[in-house]
Amino acid sequence: MLDPIKVGILGLGTVGGGTAHILQNNAQEIARRAGRGIVITHASAKDINKTHPYSTENMVLTELNDVVNNPDVQIVVELLGGTTIARDLTLQAIANGKHIVTANKALIAKHGNEIFAAAQQKGVTVAFEASVGGGIPIIKAIREGLAANKIKWVAGIINGTSNFILTEMREKGREFNDVLAEAQRLGYAERDPTFDIEGIDAAHKLTILASISFGIPLQFEKIYTEGISKLTSEDIRYAEELGYRIKSLGIAKRTDKGIELRVHPTFVPKKHLLANVEGVMNAVLVQSDMLGQSLYYGAGAGSLPTGSAIVADLVDVVRTLTTDPGNRVPHLAFQADALSNVPILSIDEIESAYYLRMTAVDKVGVLAQVATLLSQNGISIEAIRQQEPTGEGNTVSIVLRTHRVPEKQMNRAIQAIEQLDGITGQVIRIRLETLGRG
Ligand code: HSE
Repeated sequence: MLDPIKVGILGLGTVGGGTAHILQNNAQEIARRAGRGIVITHASAKDINKTHPYSTENMVLTELNDVVNNPDVQIVVELLGGTTIARDLTLQAIANGKHIVTANKALIAKHGNEIFAAAQQKGVTVAFEASVGGGIPIIKAIREGLAANKIKWVAGIINGTSNFILTEMREKGREFNDVLAEAQRLGYAERDPTFDIEGIDAAHKLTILASISFGIPLQFEKIYTEGISKLTSEDIRYAEELGYRIKSLGIAKRTDKGIELRVHPTFVPKKHLLANVEGVMNAVLVQSDMLGQSLYYGAGAGSLPTGSAIVADLVDVVRTLTTDPGNRVPHLAFQADALSNVPILSIDEIESAYYLRMTAVDKVGVLAQVATLLSQNGISIEAIRQQEPTGEGNTVSIVLRTHRVPEKQMNRAIQAIEQLDGITGQVIRIRLETLGRG
């Protein structure tokens, strides 16, 4: 394999730390996808004399200018935020022929037109997946996955902090300021949190979404923006009573007269998927002419989710520098020579929770026998219910839910249960997945 690509990172805060963590922890998996390793060799942090949790012996902590001017650095990751120093350094890095990966939505929304022109002139890439929707690959989805479509509108919950505040106020009756302080502690909020609560951050992101959806230049200044700071718990309660939830939406819509671009609190029907996007989660609903509606959902802020998008962009850039340009993205996502032979499990070897239904003769002890057979096979029952007798042949239905167990244990138990005198017919089994985190 080729030598690792050298990355310089501007800012080792919440997202920078997440990016370093991912590159270190998933180094092998990332190299299998990218075709070569990716290492941070230069980083600028607030205090370069302090030991940083992710600094390694191969990483030099240095000044901002040293990162963008260092001839060894091939890709600069800009995570400073803001639009002044970040703009200057980004343009400087581009002038030095370096590729850029950024999470800075304000920078792209306000100076993207200028930055992209400079990048095009120098033949370098500017990747900004992390700028919208945190870890959700929404930019890739719209730019590439929906390329066959004319996009009619996009409506998104694209500020995690506002959504977190609205959720906590509605669910727990918490105070606005108290929840905002928590969002700041958790690293969701912008350095200037008025950007979050006044809809400015969402407007930055909507600017980007509108451009990639409709093929228009970035026009942040034209967005109508209204925040959530004037909402009261009363409005939130009344919305609920009327069958709605208040969500701060960014809406970009193509109409016959032009394009609507607006961010504001919005009543959304309570049962709509968007109304059920809670906490710091983001979601973008896209209405396109051929696919119809599609929804993209995931963590919209935070260290690792945003780092995930940064690293995905790094992999994209590295692939263009490394692999066969005709097959920039490997057919199976991993480089052909990096595919692995991890065994595929047979259905006997999978593990699942189960719903079981069986028909039992309504007599003393049958339920106990079923429970005993399950327990002898190491299966723990989570809930059990015997239905009322149906009157047909003195039989009753028994339904139960089990904890997770290897399928082969369940097979043994079912076989034994079906042989009981008190059980008639087959045991019906449906596998149950809670689809929780982890
Ligand atoms: N402050 C932003 C948010 C961070 O709350 O969504 C992610 O862009």
